[in-house]
Amino acid sequence: ILGLLRGRNRRDGEPPLIKGWIPFVGKALEFGRDAHTFLEEHKKKFGDIFTVKIAGKYMTFIMDPLLYPNIIKHGRQLDFHEFSGKVAPFTFGYPPVTSRNFPGLQEQISRSFQLLQGDSLTSLTESMMGNLMLVFRQDHLGERTGEEGDWKSVSMYEFCNSVMFEATFLTMYGRPASSSRHHGMGVLREDFVKFDNMFPLLIAQIPIWLLGQTKAIRKKLIDYFLPHKMSSWSNTSQFIRRRSELFEQYDTMRDVDKAAHHFAILWASVGNTVPACFWAMYYLVSQPEALEVVRQEILDILNLRGVKFSSDRDVTLSKEQLDKLLYLESAINESLRLSSASMNIRVAQEDFGLRLNGERSVAVRKGDIIALYPQSMHMDPEIYEEPQTFRLDRYIQDGREKTDFYKDGQKLKYYRMPFGSGSSMCPGRYFAINEIKQFLSILLLYFDLQLEEGQTRATVDSSRAGLGILLPTTDVRFRYRLRTV
Ligand code: HEM
Repeated sequence: ILGLLRGRNRRDGEPPLIKGWIPFVGKALEFGRDAHTFLEEHKKKFGDIFTVKIAGKYMTFIMDPLLYPNIIKHGRQLDFHEFSGKVAPFTFGYPPVTSRNFPGLQEQISRSFQLLQGDSLTSLTESMMGNLMLVFRQDHLGERTGEEGDWKSVSMYEFCNSVMFEATFLTMYGRPASSSRHHGMGVLREDFVKFDNMFPLLIAQIPIWLLGQTKAIRKKLIDYFLPHKMSSWSNTSQFIRRRSELFEQYDTMRDVDKAAHHFAILWASVGNTVPACFWAMYYLVSQPEALEVVRQEILDILNLRGVKFSSDRDVTLSKEQLDKLLYLESAINESLRLSSASMNIRVAQEDFGLRLNGERSVAVRKGDIIALYPQSMHMDPEIYEEPQTFRLDRYIQDGREKTDFYKDGQKLKYYRMPFGSGSSMCPGRYFAINEIKQFLSILLLYFDLQLEEGQTRATVDSSRAGLGILLPTTDVRFRYRLRTV
């Protein structure tokens, strides 16, 4: 028993092992409080590779971004789905997708992700543009938003959330049979926020019955997607339609399980996109010169196609036009660099020597977790000068996208990783960038925007470090009014 309590000892060839003196909990508390600082301090003491015992698991962190490619290409020995296959069902409330219960389902689900990309991206992007315009026109372009040029003051996160949540929902799941918008979207969004606040605890596998109302709220959210409700909706994306058809093929899957899968996709499609929109908007509104550069770029692209913009007509931006918005893309990527803190996790499938550069390799044991923490790279002053500063043109060079970034004089293969890496990379990443571009384009074309004076700078709340885009510590007030062109 004493041996068990003490845990394991470092063997030859293994990285330095840091256990923490409370058995089991290990370093979890310190890590949870501020993962970035925790890892930076350990890197100073122990070097680029070290193993930490966190909540009963041995996690080996690879801190040098020059070594990332070695990890990412180890597909066979380092599996991603072993981890996600356990955590996601627990969090969203569906039974694990094992081949015993649902033969072939995992492969089919992975295949469905293609419907977020390629040709399907064009129709998704068109649909999103229409839905964004619908929500903007009905909620923010009406008479109340100062036809006479009056300013209206609102909270920025709340604003991004209400617009993006509904427009994304309509684009993914479609609209009700007899109206263009779903009733009760406000309540659904509030419930979603309550669930989302508990998300880090669920991911850490804290039993849901310990989390107050969370279980009841999750049930309400899941019930929204029951098959008999969804079947009456129209304009549903091909992606969601394919998944519904797929679930129908399994007698073993109950209606609530199908609904829980759809709910998980709702989380995936807005959980990171809303904070990402917030940060991109915040940095642009905080730097009026940058905002003006981006606005002119959008106007130029529209004029190129002979479209004259005026505020009494709907604007459309095709996928091709969105692709040309270089400054807008740099602004979004720069805000993703500053706000993303996702952890990339792989589980070792066997004991093996993980080859690093040259002759160097470290021993890894079966079941250990190998983790990359790209926020450390995003905030490395050697790679990004003044890493805390938002620079509009950070990702532009000679009128093109800048892709060369260096560490120790060597060019980095991976230098910006908000969407994960390799086999676990986010399948919605192209759609996400497009919809953030569309959201910002509409904002900049229709409205004058200003931050309210007397507010402190927005800072990231690190409590969900490791899980994606960080939220702001507090919301920010801004004002807007219709632009008179
Ligand atoms: C997975 C980031 C938007 C769908 C992921 C992962 C990350 C991520 C980091 C997990 C990778 C890992 O654990 O290694 C983001 C960010 C977004 C965004 C930063 C917005 C700025 C979207 C959107 C959709 C989407 C809009 C869908 C419409 C998914 C799905 C997965 C995923 C389905 C799971 C993939 C799997 O199980 O293999 N995303 N995402 N994401 N994302 Fe996104």
